[in-house]
Order: sequence, then C-alpha cells, then structure tokens
Amino acid sequence: MKQGEQITLDESTTSTFGTDEIIHSNGWPLSSQLSPALLGEVDLPGDKSVSHRALIFGALAVGETRIDGLLEGDDVLATARALTAYGVEIVRDGPGRWRVWGTGIGGFKEPASVLDLGNAGTAARLLMGVATHYPFATFFSGDTSLRGRPMKRAMEPLIEMGARVTTRSGCRLPLSLIGSTQLLPITYTMPVASAQVKSAILLAGLAAPGKTSVVEPSPSRDHTERMLTHFGAEISVVNDAESTRIITLTGQPELAGQKLSVPADISSAAFPLAAALIVPGSQLLLRNVGVNPLRAGLLDCVHEMGGEIKLQNARNLSGEPVVDIAVVASPLRGIDVPADRAPSMIDEYPVLAILAACADGQSRLRGLDELRHKESDRFASILSGLLAAGVSVSNEGDDILINGRGAPPPGGAKIKSHLDHRIAMAFLVLGLACRDGMAIDDGASISTSFPDFVDLMSSLGARIENV
Ligand code: S3P
Repeated sequence: MKQGEQITLDESTTSTFGTDEIIHSNGWPLSSQLSPALLGEVDLPGDKSVSHRALIFGALAVGETRIDGLLEGDDVLATARALTAYGVEIVRDGPGRWRVWGTGIGGFKEPASVLDLGNAGTAARLLMGVATHYPFATFFSGDTSLRGRPMKRAMEPLIEMGARVTTRSGCRLPLSLIGSTQLLPITYTMPVASAQVKSAILLAGLAAPGKTSVVEPSPSRDHTERMLTHFGAEISVVNDAESTRIITLTGQPELAGQKLSVPADISSAAFPLAAALIVPGSQLLLRNVGVNPLRAGLLDCVHEMGGEIKLQNARNLSGEPVVDIAVVASPLRGIDVPADRAPSMIDEYPVLAILAACADGQSRLRGLDELRHKESDRFASILSGLLAAGVSVSNEGDDILINGRGAPPPGGAKIKSHLDHRIAMAFLVLGLACRDGMAIDDGASISTSFPDFVDLMSSLGARIENV
C-alpha cells in the first residue's frame, strides 16, 4: 500500500467466492535447505492479534487513533477493508503507521457488499461481535480455509444477545448476521478457551446496556481487555481459586481515540527463534517482542527443553509487556507440555513440534483438540508433515507424541501447507536443519501474518528458495 493511501473496498477485494482456489492452485512452492549459522538482529512484524484490535477499537472510538507498528499482513488488511466498508476512514501514513477516524459505537453504515475476510478467523469472529450492534445484515465470507472453520462458537452467545444469524450448513461461512439496537447484556461461560469468541462477546457488549460478563475456565489472550482499558472502557477482571477468569464490561462506554504502538508478534518471532535453536552456531537478537503472559507459553517450553534464550530490556508498549530476546543454538531435550499451557501458545504448536523433532527424547504435547480448528487441521498437518520428514510421531487421543533423536530428521519431503501460514513457516524452518531440506507446496498464506518471512530469514543466512 502507498503512503497516504485511503483504502477502498473495490471489486478485487470483495465477493471473490472461489477465486482463492484459482489463485492458490498455482501456489508458491518454496524449499528450505541445510543452512549456515543464522546471525543478526531482527525487527519482526507487528502482532496480528493486537493489530486487528487496534483497527477495530480505533473505529469504535470517537476521533482519531494513531497506530504504529501495525502488521501489514493480508489478515489485518482484510479487517481494515471491512471497516472501510462500514464507512470508517482509514489512512496509511507510512510503513506500519496508520490513522483511523472512529465513528463511535453505533456510527457504522451498512456495507454495500459481502465482507471478504480472506484467511482471517480473528477478523471474522471479532467483526461478528461488532456487526451485532446494527439492525442491518452484514454478510461474511472468506477463503477456502476460513469457510471451513466453525462459527457456531461465536454465533451462540451473539444470538443470546439478540443477533440473528444465517449460515451455510455446519455453521460455516458465508454467513449473514443481523444485529439489534436493543442488545441484551449476558453472562457467558466459555465452553472452550477462545480469545476470538471472548472478544466477539465483549465487542457486542459495548453496545448493550449494563454489564456483559465472560467466564473463562482457562484464560485466553487478554489483548481485548487491555485495549478496552486503554480506550477508556470500564472493565474488571477477577481470577478465582480454580483459575477461572471472569471479565465484566460495563456497556455503552464512550471510547476515545488513542495513540498505540503494536509490539512485534511472538507468534512470528517463534520462527526465527526456533530456527536459531536448531541451526548450529546461530545467534539472533529478536527486538521488541510482545511477551503477554497469556501468549508466551512457548518461551516456558524452550526453557524446559534447555534452549538458551535471554529476555532483555523489559518494558511496556501501550499496555503490553515487551522484551528483546537473545537466542543461541542449543541442544534440546524432549518435554511434557501440559494441556493447560495450550491457550498461552495455541499458535506455536507447529513450531514447537519442529523443536521436539530435533530434541533428544520423547515430547508429549497434551490436549490439542483445538488445533483441529485452526487455519488448517494443524493436528493432522503436524503429524503428517513430521512423518514425511522422517520423524517418529504418533498421537494418543488429543496428545501428540514426538520421538526426537537429539538431531534433526533427514527431511527431504514436500508437504502441503493447506492455506496455513504457520504450517508453511514451521516446515520451512525444519528444512534449515535437515540434511535433505524440506519443501512446501504453497507459501502464499505466509503473507497473512509475516509478509517478509522469506526475505528476513534469508538476510539472516537461511537458505529458502522458490522452486
Ligand atoms: C486469536 C485467538 C486464537 C489464535 C488466533 C488469534 C485472537 O484463536 O489461535 O490466531 O487474536 O484472538 P482462538 O480464539 O480460536 O483460540
């Protein structure tokens, strides 16, 4: 996108049912090869979760919100386009620097077309919460991956609050949601830990009178709660004895435009971090990485595996904790990852599986049913990708068992990425340490969260090539 460019919703960004299959059928095949030591200091892309929320809360606030460090990946651009379809003015001032002129809660206009959210599950579920404020229909769709993902979990509480929803069979996109000007505040107990669903409810609750509460049996990432506080909403969080979290929002606040800085995404930092751990002699400094405790479970795993990482220069960025991470190539040992750690590292299992494949001994990754509902069925993608690379791997129910041999597997396989950026990047990282490298059929999805992945990794010494 160009500087000063106001984003518009044109034909190329809307109503493209089916065209993603055509685009992706050619794909972007990539391979990674055994690489020399990765060395350098790295600035990583902005946090995807925080970037979506910065745009959405900016749009719901009154007046101007200035954002720097915004992730300019396809997923976040899909949110920006959807907000412009609702009549919100958004301008890009320069790389990562964006301004949003918020309309206030209730100030959106009816979109003239379907919101095509591409691959972005967070955009779909959070914007469903916002759409609940309006008595008109919003139509949601996305790419093949997003159209296959479950929406029932977000629809149910929103219907309880007063929304009417029609979907394709199986509660999948495309769906239409008609909201209400008389939303009911609810208390909702989450059946699964999901920050997207929690956020959809809290976003809907912004327009409801009184108090909307979400009860979380196990805590999920709290960027929405932090950002709501930053924008001036009244929100309380109570942790009870059984580690249940109860979040209560007072509805109909006046949110005021803010200045926000987005930290680098720990979920993106995870790829160079893992690569540095498994490629001998590597040494990297990853700057400005968000380490929200409800996101940083991977760092606990790396410590337990014996990986040498140091967190330096701890500070706060717009309500989020950040550090610089120094990482050095290290021998790793297998670990047992408890199921209750999953919400704090749910997006990091593909790359953790790569580390476990190179570690000494068995790793058991417990309680991973949720991985079946991500951009792809990551549970299956991890098992089949590791098997193809020559790793001894199996599952017992929702646990994945990986038998590392204290060295990288031979590799030499080409795996399917299934429109899943994290599967694509994880297996490219594995290939950097394998005698025979690794290949993926299609890296196009990488641009959803880490558009410069190939260039950045190459600048550190990684051998990743088009094939
Ligand atoms: C996200 C929440 C998680 C995560 C996703 C981003 C968010 O999804 O996997 O990549 O920004 O709220 P769930 O809410 O489905 O766990």
